[in-house]
Amino acid sequence: MTVDDIRKVCVVGAGTMGAQIAQQVALFGYPVALFSRSGERLDAAVTSNARLLAKRVEKGKLEQADCDAALARVTTHTDLEAAVQDADLIIESVAEDRETKRHICQQLDAAAAPEAIIASNSSTMASSLFADCIAHDERLLNVHFFNPALVMQLVEVVRGPHTADDVVDTCVEFVRRIGKTPVLVEKETYGFIANRILFIAMQEAFRLVEDGYVSMEDADLAVKNGLNWPMGPFELADLVGLDVTEDILSQGHVQTGEDRWKPTGILTGHTGRGELGRKTGKGFYSYK
Ligand code: CAA
Repeated sequence: MTVDDIRKVCVVGAGTMGAQIAQQVALFGYPVALFSRSGERLDAAVTSNARLLAKRVEKGKLEQADCDAALARVTTHTDLEAAVQDADLIIESVAEDRETKRHICQQLDAAAAPEAIIASNSSTMASSLFADCIAHDERLLNVHFFNPALVMQLVEVVRGPHTADDVVDTCVEFVRRIGKTPVLVEKETYGFIANRILFIAMQEAFRLVEDGYVSMEDADLAVKNGLNWPMGPFELADLVGLDVTEDILSQGHVQTGEDRWKPTGILTGHTGRGELGRKTGKGFYSYK
């Protein structure tokens, strides 16, 4: 398969990532079937994407006609079989739960065309963990977007030991065709590239505050002004979600056995109280 063979894309899961991935793909001319079990979640995804693209039109960055066409290219589905029909590329972006992802992969294996590429957007699970769920595992790999997916430029394409070379090449080229910058990860490793660097750096910030060296506000100021990150590590953790941050760290701890990934008390204190960042109105900072 080459990139020209990709004519229709299916995105499975309409959470924060799936919704924006679908919209990004549609902005670059592809019809996209967006699947979720929940009609409410699909409605929320469509509303949020319409609001984000409307802001681009207001700012003069997008023509109204292109905005309307990009929104119309995303169709929503609560029936997985209907969503994957005719899809040449399927991007799985369901909850970061191994059994959920395995179940979805089994369903995709049954419903998708045998030559369709199945790409997992997982941050914490390499595609090897699902390879036994897919008969044609040479079509399986990770294609990992960053949050917010409509804005962040990087997409990591991760070769699994089972992935065919043409599938890797096609996905790298596809990422370029949807206006993003691909990075090819040649071997599976926990966190891939960017998260492996980012979350260990975040851990350092969490420990410096926990051990009383600096306030959280000053740690964020230091990183923004000294390293030119657009957000400090505490602000970024609130954007990513403290539950997602904790999950990435604890999965890293389990999968690598390295203590440097072990979630710190300053983080688990918040998640234990249900303070999950921007999405709940409170995390390290308050957003009400
Ligand atoms: N969703 C979609 N678009 C968003 C957004 C969101 N949550 N927040 C901001 N934007 C858009 C704005 O609409 C605006 O778009 P246009 O200019 O096209 O209209 C653009 O981003 C810039 O926004 P603002 O001017 O409001 O704010 P900003 O310049 O401060 O940028 C930011 C906001 C893009 C979030 C920026 O602060 C940033 O890049 N932060 C770092 C994000 C980051 O590191 N992400 C990686 C997280 S780790 C991860 O994702 C991996 C994982 O596996 C969990």
